[in-house]
Amino acid sequence: MTAASVPPAGGTADRAGGGASPAPGTVRRAICPGSFDPVTNGHLDIIGRAAELYDEVVVAVFVNQVKSSLFSSDERRDMLVESTAQYGNVAIDTFEGLVVDYCRAHGIPVIVKGLRAVSDFDYELQMAQMNRGLAGVDTLFMPTNPEYSFLASSLVKEIAKWGGDVSALVPPNVLKRLTDRSGTPGRA
Ligand code: PNS
Repeated sequence: MTAASVPPAGGTADRAGGGASPAPGTVRRAICPGSFDPVTNGHLDIIGRAAELYDEVVVAVFVNQVKSSLFSSDERRDMLVESTAQYGNVAIDTFEGLVVDYCRAHGIPVIVKGLRAVSDFDYELQMAQMNRGLAGVDTLFMPTNPEYSFLASSLVKEIAKWGGDVSALVPPNVLKRLTDRSGTPGRA
């Protein structure tokens, strides 16, 4: 599945996945929405684990016209395509508007979110309850691997901007783009 092949609602598959038993032939889809400016190893950990739980996972880059980003939505999508290439059931897309509208249009009943710390929980719970109230879309919270509990795209950008070493925090393709963008080679 590629970015161009994010399925519309109502698809079927003959492949069994994990978790509770759905109706036979039902494709279990989930979405991992986010800004991904840029994708980090923490995001990739969650995406990989979601890909084990669901038949199809759409990683959706939120295009926010009012928030400035280091990378364009196309760049963010391309970095995700490159760094999730090993998964046969992960597609990358971009979206503008409400995540629940994207879910409705593509037959996705579940949002998967990583929780790094209790501090993430308040806002994430509020969004999860709102999304369920708006459209019946549920949210699955996945505890982040403790190795990545401090990791945030904003910190990665700041460290890379000043030439700090982020090679353990992002995949190599993202590291290259960060280095190219900052003009400063990363140092240890
Ligand atoms: O990586 P981020 O910036 O924490 O991701 C936040 C994101 C994009 C997942 C969230 O802001 C979102 O879902 N935005 C889409 C607009 C929307 O649906 N807003 C209402 C949420 S209740």
